[in-house]
Amino acid sequence: MRVLGIETSCDETAAAVYDSETGLRSHRLYSQAPLHAAYGGVVPELASRDHVRKLLPLIDQALADAGLEPGQIDGVAYTAGPGLAGALLVGASVARSLAFAWDRPAVGVHHLEGHLLAPMLESDPPEFPFLALLVSGGHTLIAEVRALGEYQIIGSSIDDAAGEAFDKTAKLLGLPYPGGPALARIAEHGRAGRFRLPRPMLDRPGLEFSFSGLKTAVVVATRGLQLDEQTRADVAAEFQQAVVDTLVEKCARAMEQSGLATLVVAGGVGANARLREALQALGRRQGVRVLYPQPQFCTDNAAMIAYAGWRRLAAGEHDDLVIRASARWPLDSLRAPGHEHARAN
Ligand code: KG4
Ligand code: ZN
Repeated sequence: MRVLGIETSCDETAAAVYDSETGLRSHRLYSQAPLHAAYGGVVPELASRDHVRKLLPLIDQALADAGLEPGQIDGVAYTAGPGLAGALLVGASVARSLAFAWDRPAVGVHHLEGHLLAPMLESDPPEFPFLALLVSGGHTLIAEVRALGEYQIIGSSIDDAAGEAFDKTAKLLGLPYPGGPALARIAEHGRAGRFRLPRPMLDRPGLEFSFSGLKTAVVVATRGLQLDEQTRADVAAEFQQAVVDTLVEKCARAMEQSGLATLVVAGGVGANARLREALQALGRRQGVRVLYPQPQFCTDNAAMIAYAGWRRLAAGEHDDLVIRASARWPLDSLRAPGHEHARAN
């Protein structure tokens, strides 16, 4: 089965083709980051308009790269939420219309289900059940992934997501949007420990995260200081280390608590090299397999949407003739194929 995947939930326009026989056939991505950089963050209306401009040419390119004609596509999967309402609507309308025109089924995919399943695109895929650390711009959670659609969240952030904390701290340091990767880059030249930031929530039991205090701690630690290049790098290194230490410790607890032998890391912050190293080391210590998607499939992409869509279509699920876009849609309201999801808007 060949599935066209479409992702437009935030500031990346992406299209990909997944083939259940041969694997990923093509994937194309256009980042709107330069468009939003001048504003220091994503401007939803600009994002929607840019998706309108870029999506159809990207789909054409993804099909051409895959060497396929529209008639050879068996289904269309698109991100139906959560995300920016207008941005989601662009992808959803295009996807649903193409599926209708091609007389093929369409399926609306949960963006986070896409992230959770992204490691399955790799040559050494995880098998159910596994533990997942999902760290993106909007979410930080640890879930037990029992099967397709069976996700039990056992820990999450009570305030900012890890990616959000990276982005906000990057802004404080005067780094350009998107902040996370920029902060990680300068942290490579910095020394953790010159500044001392807290490791939030490690002093109490449980699997909850809290990252909003970290950026306040950065403000306090740098008050009155000249933010020269080395100082910024040192703050960035300590901040990154504080986030990594926190995520690693909570993952260690979750592994112990769940007894699961595989940890999957997903979402944009999963592209962070220090986090990957530290979790790999934890895996070796605890005898747990730690798997990640390639960095390009950690951040938003359409390959993961095509893959998750294929899993649902192959299980016999597809949507009626509706265009679905849910800005809010809790991950744990998903169900295994064949069971009705709870949907929220
Ligand atoms: O999963 P994603 O692409 O989009 C969402 O669904 O949110 O994640 C984006 C987040 C942003 O906050 C970005 O700053 C962060 O992931 N990010 C990183 C890195 N690459 C992306 N954070 C730290 N280090 C990175 N290398
Ligand atoms: Zn994402």
